[in-house]
Amino acid sequence: MHNAITLTQFLIQDQRRIVTASGELTSLLNDIVIACKHIANVVNKGALIGVLGSAESENIQGEEQKKLDVISNDIVLTRNEWGGHLAGMASEEMEDVYNIPPQYPRGKYLLVFDPLDGSSNIDINMSVGTIFSILRCPEDVVEPTATDFLQPGTEQVCAGYAVYGPSTMIVLTTGNAVNGFTLDSNVGEFFLTHENMRVPENTEEFAINVSNERFWEPPVQRYIDECIKGANGPRGKNFNMRWVASMVAEVHRILTRGGIFMYPKDTKDKSKPGKLRLLYEANPMSLIIERAGGMATTGRERILDILPEELHQRIPVILGSKKEVEIVCSYHREMD
Ligand code: AHG
Ligand code: MN
Ligand code: MN
Repeated sequence: MHNAITLTQFLIQDQRRIVTASGELTSLLNDIVIACKHIANVVNKGALIGVLGSAESENIQGEEQKKLDVISNDIVLTRNEWGGHLAGMASEEMEDVYNIPPQYPRGKYLLVFDPLDGSSNIDINMSVGTIFSILRCPEDVVEPTATDFLQPGTEQVCAGYAVYGPSTMIVLTTGNAVNGFTLDSNVGEFFLTHENMRVPENTEEFAINVSNERFWEPPVQRYIDECIKGANGPRGKNFNMRWVASMVAEVHRILTRGGIFMYPKDTKDKSKPGKLRLLYEANPMSLIIERAGGMATTGRERILDILPEELHQRIPVILGSKKEVEIVCSYHREMD
């Protein structure tokens, strides 16, 4: 029998270290954890309860919604709207900000989330996840609007993700460290299994959707070309490639064994400067990666410093092991 501490115990111990802490953040995180357990349960049952496949609808980004995108979004809303810790929520799957229903008290935080990341993997039984980020609601704002969510990633109070893979895990950064917790579904609790996760500095593994190669900018084309040339090219070493098409799964791999992940700027659709969403995907993952000793950039600027202009803004993302990300940045500087 394992004797690791539970996620609840970890959060309460963490809270006790801050003398002035009110416990609100701990309670909010507990509700998010319950939402993730609930989503894990539905994802796990899959075809048995008829939740696979398309919802026959599109989200605000013009992407097809899976039934599980909609179900997971509803679960996060339901589990978090009542607790009195939030002033509002915003999700990849909802056009507008979600205001807290009038029967519930308001709190000081904002919750931003991608309810089901990598949902194209659902029907093929591959890893998917939930990404979340907590911001402070600006003071004196009772009914937050989209503008109140437009805060740079450096303002995040906390960020994390759940990965629904062979094990269900939650990875979280509350203070300065990144910790991973594994769900023991018999006990119904997450246990601390991955303490102080760190991104290894050196890596020989890259993740990018190579089918977009012709749409990339020259610095990214050069970097990937050099990785592919391996020991025979300027890098003088061989690289390996992975592409799960689920950012949660890629970031989890990078936190475990290193690597670089890129969804760079491309010209595939000129109206979109990148595919991934700044608020729901790039910012929370960048905070986690930086706190774990890695780096996250668009190639030209640090992601966490960007002042968002709109709720559903997309940006290029290049993150992971510091030395590799620095090489990609240096190619942008040289070739711009
Ligand atoms: P989502 O399922 O929330 O829309 O996110 C999918 C994202 C990201 O997780 C992944 O890295 C990327 O889109 C995959 O894109 P491609 O299908 O273009 O490879
Ligand atoms: Mn996503
Ligand atoms: Mn999603």
